[in-house]
Amino acid sequence: MQVVSTAQEFRDWCRAAQRPLGLVPTMGALHDGHLGLVRQAKAECASMAVTIFVNPTQFDRPADLEQYPRTHERDLELLSETEADVVFLPTADEVYPPGFATKVQVAGPALSLEGIERPGHFQGVATVVTKLLLTSMADMAYFGQKDAQQVAVVRRLVADLNIPTQVRVVPTVRETDSLAMSSRNTNLTPKEREAAPVVYRALQAAKVLHAEGEQGAEALKRGCLSALEAEPLVEKIDYVALVDPLTFALLDRMGDGPAILVVAVRMGMTRLIDNVVLGGEAQQV
Ligand code: PAJ
Repeated sequence: MQVVSTAQEFRDWCRAAQRPLGLVPTMGALHDGHLGLVRQAKAECASMAVTIFVNPTQFDRPADLEQYPRTHERDLELLSETEADVVFLPTADEVYPPGFATKVQVAGPALSLEGIERPGHFQGVATVVTKLLLTSMADMAYFGQKDAQQVAVVRRLVADLNIPTQVRVVPTVRETDSLAMSSRNTNLTPKEREAAPVVYRALQAAKVLHAEGEQGAEALKRGCLSALEAEPLVEKIDYVALVDPLTFALLDRMGDGPAILVVAVRMGMTRLIDNVVLGGEAQQV
């Protein structure tokens, strides 16, 4: 496994790589959720690149950036075990050199929910993802369903900018108690960690209502909210919403195709997001 730190080295490596080339962008502090992406990329591609970059421009709160776990040595061990072919681990100056002045601003799916709760977040994501896609010119890029709105934003920008990369979406990997794996979970106190599976339980409550025939967003959301409100360690519910998987427009009720029920809550210093797909043939959208 090769580790490179400059965009030039990364581009050169990717140009010489066997095709198809898969790209897995991450911010490090790797867990089994990330490794699920890496494994799928490995299974589908002849060569596979992982990027580790804690992207400062997508953090809306300086404290969150500061607190974000950084475990590069362990990350490289895990990636070597998972047989990544190359890891791009740039500095912030390499990605944003002095004079950097370009931003990728997606409207549409970036405007709702996380776009409102975290101003500037998707601009930071869109800018860095565009750079990574254009530097690597990967054939496939892998993203987790856990960040469903990020998937919608990346799909939009790839289509709009004619980037010749196929976006692949990988199911959410969960802890045994169903909490979605996240690098931020390590910031939970033991009591919060114990309470955190309430997020998935709340989504499941809505899923049961949907399976029983409920189609209206208000009733589905209410099922989810009741479970969240019953947990005292949930300090704030940022949102519970039923959305279209591609546009992230808010829905009043289920339509013909699948919809996603998305949740964001705060527990102490930590923000947890999760989602469940309702309706449609496939679990993944
Ligand atoms: P990060 O939070 O490190 O996540 C990297 C990728 O792993 C994302 O596509 C995310 O959706 C996926 N992922 C995280 N937890 C997961 C889980 N439990 N199951 C499945 N996939 C999971 O998302 C980012 O970084 C950044 O925004 C990035 C795209 C790298 C741009 O900076």
